[in-house]
Amino acid sequence: MPKNAIKLMLATGLILSSAPAAVDAAPTIPNQNADHAFDNKVIKKISGDRLYERVNLLSQSPREAGTEGEYRAVQYIQDQFESYGYNTELQPFTFQDWDEGVSSIVINNTVFNGDVQAFTGSVNATVKSKLEFVGLASSEEVTDSVKGKIALIERGSISFYEKVQNVINKGAAGVIMFNREGEEGNDFGYTYEGQNIPVVAINREEGLSLVNQLNSEEVNAEIAVQGAGTIDKISYNVIATMQPHKNKDNGQIVTIGAHHDSVAGGPGANDDASGVSGVLELAKIMAKTPIDTELRFMTFGAEEKGLLGSYHYASTLSEDEVNRIAAHFQMDMIGSRDSGDLIMFTPDGEKNLVTDLGAAAGARVAEVVEYGQLGRSDHVPFFERGIPSALFIHAPLEPWYHSPEDTVDKISKDKLKETTEIIGAAVYQIARPDTPALINARVAPGPVHYEFDDRPL
Ligand code: BES
Ligand code: ZN
Repeated sequence: MPKNAIKLMLATGLILSSAPAAVDAAPTIPNQNADHAFDNKVIKKISGDRLYERVNLLSQSPREAGTEGEYRAVQYIQDQFESYGYNTELQPFTFQDWDEGVSSIVINNTVFNGDVQAFTGSVNATVKSKLEFVGLASSEEVTDSVKGKIALIERGSISFYEKVQNVINKGAAGVIMFNREGEEGNDFGYTYEGQNIPVVAINREEGLSLVNQLNSEEVNAEIAVQGAGTIDKISYNVIATMQPHKNKDNGQIVTIGAHHDSVAGGPGANDDASGVSGVLELAKIMAKTPIDTELRFMTFGAEEKGLLGSYHYASTLSEDEVNRIAAHFQMDMIGSRDSGDLIMFTPDGEKNLVTDLGAAAGARVAEVVEYGQLGRSDHVPFFERGIPSALFIHAPLEPWYHSPEDTVDKISKDKLKETTEIIGAAVYQIARPDTPALINARVAPGPVHYEFDDRPL
């Protein structure tokens, strides 16, 4: 068995020759005191104030991938890493985004003055015809009378695809869709390949007033979508590397990541300025801590566009690097004041080295951390390359997830601090230079029992 494998087994407590019965006896930790002493080298230095202040700075404005806002965040993160003494790399990549262009509606020869937004994927076209309200546009509601007309549709109940396809099947020339009850604005909706009529969205109030108008008179409408289409944009990953001392290097690598991009229009304080701040805090502290493992701290771009930054990063790893990466820790949404417990998610719902270390570190620092099954973040590309990885996140979701309300006032300093401590302690179990110490069982943490948690998110 390779030396590293033995070391990892020791580090997670997978080898416990003297007390195998302890494996499932929760949550007693045989070597708690020894490990606490090691944990303290890292966790005593973690500052809640610093963690909070970085979230505050990063969440002043949105950081949507490919925008100035993202680039400002990228520069800030790189500067911080460099100020801690790291070698940094900006890894740019291109991605295709959707440019919604400019859309307008004319009703009975008067320009409609509400906001009009093309569906993502809409064709560019101008059509002029009678307007017909077809309700939710189920196949029962849509009749031949919509042929050649513009269909007014209420959002909800069935998919966008079905709604648009049902009216296309009956020969409609275009679609105006209004929002469903309880939802604000008109930023929703996408069309699919082959749905070649212009489709635009308006808010619910304006939609209902058109329905009213149709009840009392015939309405002629014109909809125009111009300049919509895909556009190439650039996003970045920021990578900071710390090499172990030459005499101590055991060839292992541990990666610690978060995503710095936010959704459009969202300040993304929790999602995921919180994780970025955690990564920076651990980088700052580990820079001054002797290690025997290479540490790579990284923040990914374009996570919200489909995990694009982490897929890009994972695709640049050589086989040799993949084999040497012992663990990937992903910090995403680690500061929400109103959310619940910390959970470690793996894409396959199986435990792995990272969850074992996380659960044990949790037990030492605060309480045992449970695990569950979820993708939806940057641990997925690492998992797909066979690297033990997990997402550390508080569940359930808070109501301001992906909204303009995801602001710093919803962030808890204590949650930020405790989560960063747990991950810091887990990382240090692998990276601390005293392991392996095969004859000194004191340094091997005890295994803890931790449960699968399947609460809905
Ligand atoms: N931080 C979230 C992931 C998340 C959301 C985890 C909710 C657990 C519960 C992440 O930034 C996100 O929003 N991911 C996208 C997926 C991606 C493929 C676009 C999502 O979940 O919609
Ligand atoms: Zn998100």
